[in-house]
Amino acid sequence: MNDIAPDKKKDVICHCSGTTKEQIKGLVNDGIDNLDGISRMTGACSGCGACDVSILELLDENGADCDV
Ligand code: FES
Repeated sequence: MNDIAPDKKKDVICHCSGTTKEQIKGLVNDGIDNLDGISRMTGACSGCGACDVSILELLDENGADCDV
């Protein structure tokens, strides 16, 4: 069981780790703007891998310097 507030659950982008879009946006704001860094900090992309493209798109939308 994770401790994500119910109103944030709809923003989960990685269901394996429970990582939300807001968490990733916060990390991008802190300068972590690549998939490896996001994965290390949150556990996203370390399970089934289905969220890779969605996270890359989110990084791109938030001005991260990565290839989609
Ligand atoms: S949904 Fe992100 S690793 Fe499975």
